Amino acid sequence: MAPKQSSPLPDFLYGTAWKEDRTAALTELAIQTGFRGIDTANQRRHYFEAGVGQALAAVYRAGVVQRADVFLQTKFTYRPGQDHRLPYDPAARLPVQVAQSMASSMEHLGTDYVDTYVLHGPASGYGWTDADSEVWEAMMKERDAGRTRLLGVSNVSLRHLEQMVSIYSEAPAFVQNRCYARFGWDRDVRLFCRERKIIYQGFSLLTANAEVLHHPLVTGLAARAGATPAQVVFGFARAVGMLPLTGTSNAEHMKQDLACTGLVLEPDAVGAIESLAG
Ligand SMILES: NC(=O)c1ccc[n+]([C@@H]2O[C@H](COP(=O)([O-])OP(=O)(O)OC[C@H]3O[C@@H](n4cnc5c(N)ncnc54)[C@H](OP(=O)(O)O)[C@@H]3O)[C@@H](O)[C@H]2O)c1
Repeated sequence: MAPKQSSPLPDFLYGTAWKEDRTAALTELAIQTGFRGIDTANQRRHYFEAGVGQALAAVYRAGVVQRADVFLQTKFTYRPGQDHRLPYDPAARLPVQVAQSMASSMEHLGTDYVDTYVLHGPASGYGWTDADSEVWEAMMKERDAGRTRLLGVSNVSLRHLEQMVSIYSEAPAFVQNRCYARFGWDRDVRLFCRERKIIYQGFSLLTANAEVLHHPLVTGLAARAGATPAQVVFGFARAVGMLPLTGTSNAEHMKQDLACTGLVLEPDAVGAIESLAG
């Protein structure tokens, strides 16, 4: 099937985890504020994907955006990452679970395609498994059928990625990882991604790096730029090629996060932040 009209790659992704019954209102506010990338998952334990769908319906109705203006990303989550509210039959084979989860996401999101479909995390922290290959191949079928334009993987190590590309000639379009400053901001994985033109999506940039937000280098740069330390961290993330996520529930922070796309950091400053903690 021919791919649907592609939504442009956004500057920022608005993350919808942990918002429960505020999901619809906050996602609607995020889109009204200017976010054009939305990250969710068909994992009711941490996300309310149907609430994201309600927000989308509201902004389409209000004429704020159309489907093609919004970059929509959702995920397939294995059984151990879920609670009892499953989007698939747990007794079904993995490829069937992927197809059922995707069909359920489409229904939640009121769409017949997403922009990216992400494997929420491999089955094992130690390496890529046969189960992951089964799931990935089912995800490729979803892509070939036109239900997602692109594919990604999340919560992966360099080892997972190296094993994955040794099996498949085609690399994922995205890697989405928690990004710790103390590990060089996931330096090895980012380098792997850069070499293969994979876009690295970083989450927990603020919450995993509280020490960075208080570091004199960052507070000093923020003061000189008339920005907040959070904006400096997001500005840094963009300067090193990341697509950052924010899950803010605060209207002012939504504006500040989006405004960091205009923050220009000198290469020296970017280098100093990159090697600040690891
Ligand atoms: N793939 C995965 O396994 C995975 C795991 C975790 C998260 N995610 C995705 O990533 C998204 C973001 O999660 P996260 O862990 O990065 O963040 P988060 O848990 O949503 O928290 C962001 C934190 O940063 C604060 N914040 C945001 N902008 C700020 C600003 N300008 N100034 C000061 N504080 C600010 C927020 O506080 P306020 O609300 O007060 O602004 C909040 O405490 C999630 O919603 C989800 O979509 C994916």
